[in-house]
Amino acid sequence: MSVRETWATRIGFILVATGSAVGLGNIWRFPFLTAESGGAAFLIAYLILIVSVGLPLILAEFVIGRRTKRNVVGAFDELGRSNWKIVGGIGALAGFVILSYYSVVGGWVIQYIIASITGAYTSDPAAYFETASVGTNAVVFDALFMGFVAGIVALGIRNGLERAAKFMVPSVVVLLIVLSVYGATLDGSGAGYAFYLSPDPATLVSDAIGLLPDAAGQAFFTLSLGMGVMITYASYLGEDRSLLNDSLLILVVDTFIALLAGLAIFPFLFAEGIDPGTGGPGTVFVALGTAFAELPAGQLVGTVFYIALFMAALTSAFSILEVIVAYVTETFGFERKPATVGIAGVIFLIGIPTALDINVLNAYDVLANQVLLIGGGLLLAIFVGWFFAGEALEEFTTGSDGLEGLGTVWIWLLRIPITVLLLYVLYNGVLATTEAVTAVL
Ligand code: PFF
Repeated sequence: MSVRETWATRIGFILVATGSAVGLGNIWRFPFLTAESGGAAFLIAYLILIVSVGLPLILAEFVIGRRTKRNVVGAFDELGRSNWKIVGGIGALAGFVILSYYSVVGGWVIQYIIASITGAYTSDPAAYFETASVGTNAVVFDALFMGFVAGIVALGIRNGLERAAKFMVPSVVVLLIVLSVYGATLDGSGAGYAFYLSPDPATLVSDAIGLLPDAAGQAFFTLSLGMGVMITYASYLGEDRSLLNDSLLILVVDTFIALLAGLAIFPFLFAEGIDPGTGGPGTVFVALGTAFAELPAGQLVGTVFYIALFMAALTSAFSILEVIVAYVTETFGFERKPATVGIAGVIFLIGIPTALDINVLNAYDVLANQVLLIGGGLLLAIFVGWFFAGEALEEFTTGSDGLEGLGTVWIWLLRIPITVLLLYVLYNGVLATTEAVTAVL
């Protein structure tokens, strides 16, 4: 086995973990799902789940990774708990499914970089989305996006990623702020904020409960949980770091960017009279297309925005491929480069149907987020809560003092409430996947 590389700098881990979390999930998926799900009630369900389920599960992945210093599958071998390798299997499967359509959306982003320069979407943003999102263009640019991801992964942890991640988060934040400020000046902005931020108190509780499965899927997706990304990343992490501080930092940055994306996008949706319930995966692209057509220097702002979004998508996609490659190279002793190319090729093939039919993309998305990631998270919660609690607590307190009490609360959260909730979400996810598959057939 080759010598494991560690993070080049202390901040390197935070950068790549945040880079994995922040991506299309924040800027594309969160706003369109919120729009589709009626707005503010969804936002509230999502925020509650980020804190009550997301944080405990990031910590669960971090303790396993740092304790074992192995990838998601090797970790369970290392612990002498080989039966639990199924978590790695589900994670790898989730990775194949997610990356296969994530790279299709990444391909849309590349097309939007070019189209911002040429002005191709300015006259009719909705029509442009139709041609970019499905068909030959979508397949070609999907391949191009996969090529970039595979290239970075093939170069290895240290060389490729820390540098990209350093620019990505600040640029995305600045551009979203620019868009939010401009959006605030539009006529429809008040209606946009009301939809996004003021729930109807009469129906809030029942609405939010009904939205839990979707919100949980989004919480897992946006934090890169349930498939071992955070296990793999934390496996490169030193003993001197406080896992709680690092988790909180990632969570706050990720949530801040999603909230900001919502603030940027809802005013445009309402100003343009787009029905938020019907836009689906095109919502953000269409709303922003009109925004960039009207903004002063809109083409320039659009170009920079889509470049930043492309980088954000790359660092996330990288993390998915990296998990699978780390597993294959460490378990079977394959060389990194050929393993990367082979796996990327297979993922590309799996993704082609999603580039040809947006209903297929939706079915993959529901399967991945509401079944596979949730299933992986459920098993992790049970594992850490019931079978690994002692070591997990010890690892949790390494690098930070005085956290024993909090650690015990964390373990009990995993043991019962989170497990029960995830079982409920999983059950709903299976139903939702059946429905999404039926829509394709
Ligand atoms: N968290 C990424 C995003 O929000 O775009 C997507 C993602 C990355 C999901 C890695 C899952 C994963 F393992």
